[in-house]
Amino acid sequence: MKTEWSDRVDDLRELWSQAKGENYRTELSGILSSFDNILDVGCGAGILYEDMKKLSYVGLDFTPEFIECCHTLYPEGVWILADGHNLPFADNSFAVVNSTTVLQHILSWERVAEEMIRVARDYVIVTARTWEQETIVVAIEPCVRIRFNSKTLVDFFTQFGQVDWHWTRNTNGEERLLAIYIVKLRE
Ligand SMILES: C[S@@+](CC[C@H](N)C(=O)[O-])C[C@H]1O[C@@H](n2cnc3c(N)ncnc32)[C@H](O)[C@@H]1O
Repeated sequence: MKTEWSDRVDDLRELWSQAKGENYRTELSGILSSFDNILDVGCGAGILYEDMKKLSYVGLDFTPEFIECCHTLYPEGVWILADGHNLPFADNSFAVVNSTTVLQHILSWERVAEEMIRVARDYVIVTARTWEQETIVVAIEPCVRIRFNSKTLVDFFTQFGQVDWHWTRNTNGEERLLAIYIVKLRE
């Protein structure tokens, strides 16, 4: 089934490849490279996988065209077509569950975050568009865009563990103002 992302796969892959050197991507690769057994929810065109090849990494996305693109580019990888609202894994299946700039595109983001927590054993790591004002929905079309106030995400994830977060500022101005949230889950 097509998603709102389906017709933009080639353009977006190009765009995200160009952004590969941005601060948050480099930092995220550094953080994740210390883990084995990673699920990446909303993996898109598999840009993060390029830095994860030696690790046990599973990429999941609900856009068929992105999963096809990942299979073509990285046939040795594990790519799953599924919706983050219902992750097809047992509880505690992965040491760490990551999502990079995904929750800000999902109106029911809490449900997806709860699924990520359910299948994660130790950590959930979320990179999301964040700003200093209250959380707002900026757009519904062509895809959902939420700007989170950090308190919204910190309050939510604190129910499940200890949250550390920080800004990661990029060179392209506020449009790419992102923060990384690292949630150490309670046992
Ligand atoms: C902005 S892109 C980020 C892609 C990738 N994480 C990256 O940083 O390059 C958002 C991705 O989330 C996926 N996505 C959005 N909603 C989803 C859902 N409910 N379940 C799974 N994937 C979803 C989209 O298909 C898209 O690939």
